[in-house]
Amino acid sequence: MSALLSGKPASGPTASLTSSAKPMNSRSNIGFKKSVKITPQEINLLSTYIYSISGIHIEPGKAYLLETRFNRMLDSEKCKNFSELYHKAKADKSKTIEKKIIDAITTNETLFFRDSNPFELLKQKIIPEVIDKNTKSGQHSAPTPLRIWSAACSTGQEIYSIAIVLKELMISPNKFNIQLIGTDLSDAAIKQASYGLYNKFEIERGLALEKLQRYFTPIGSNWKIKDEIRSMASFSKFNLMDPIARLGKFDIVLCRNVAIYFTLEDRKKLFDKIAGCLNPGGYLLIGSTESLSGVCPRFVPKRHLKSIFYQIK
Ligand SMILES: C[S@@+](CC[C@H](N)C(=O)[O-])C[C@H]1O[C@@H](n2cnc3c(N)ncnc32)[C@H](O)[C@@H]1O
Repeated sequence: MSALLSGKPASGPTASLTSSAKPMNSRSNIGFKKSVKITPQEINLLSTYIYSISGIHIEPGKAYLLETRFNRMLDSEKCKNFSELYHKAKADKSKTIEKKIIDAITTNETLFFRDSNPFELLKQKIIPEVIDKNTKSGQHSAPTPLRIWSAACSTGQEIYSIAIVLKELMISPNKFNIQLIGTDLSDAAIKQASYGLYNKFEIERGLALEKLQRYFTPIGSNWKIKDEIRSMASFSKFNLMDPIARLGKFDIVLCRNVAIYFTLEDRKKLFDKIAGCLNPGGYLLIGSTESLSGVCPRFVPKRHLKSIFYQIK
């Protein structure tokens, strides 16, 4: 194993719509010769369409981003230009092209134990506090419930990191009714998360060797999360622009490194909806470069272990 597996977590790079990391489901145009230029009208057409299906806001100056993300697709969908791709997507009742467009435009950058501090915070403060509270308020004989939602779970590393934290915290798991729910808009990301298979590049980012050996099984040059961790989580497709109430109430929500792609107006709506789906005193974790200041007054920011977390008022 590489020296990167030294137990030192990789720092979490700030996700941006210009960065592209899709190691298992590569969408890179490297080695791809054809390059069709996008016109200002097509930028407008495609950006409006992308916003309508994902809430992702693309600045007008991002011609290069659209060209990079969609040139390969123009070829595979046999489209001469971006207008043709747009019209083909709109006419496609099966929504296959829409799904491919979402997979291509979303940035699924993530890693195990991203930014490390939030996972220490969960382990040492948030999860023990929620368990104490839920145990006191629950029935004596019933298992203590704990519901955690990773609201843009990408390829699953965030939720599996929490599952590992829980595994290491729980002395007798039978006493708890744990629900770890991961959702994302990208079908390709959810598919990988559900299967729990990671390549060397993904494994080497943030995962200590001891955890790799304990919770993963090697399959060829890849690694698969063990069933004991896999079975703790469930994954489904969900668009954060949609109403959230059907997901039920949560004790803890992680909504990290996704709202950066939305307009301020949509961020306000999103965090207001998240506030509505938290149990009283529930917790919210956002990305290390994000802030709720001026976004949602229903949360109180708190600091612990070099991390900021939010609690519902
Ligand atoms: C940069 S990743 C963040 C992953 C993880 N939360 C983390 O911090 O490492 C952003 C994820 O947001 C997802 N996403 C983008 N727009 C979304 C939307 N409207 N609804 C749900 N997920 C969305 C993308 O598919 C992508 O997997």
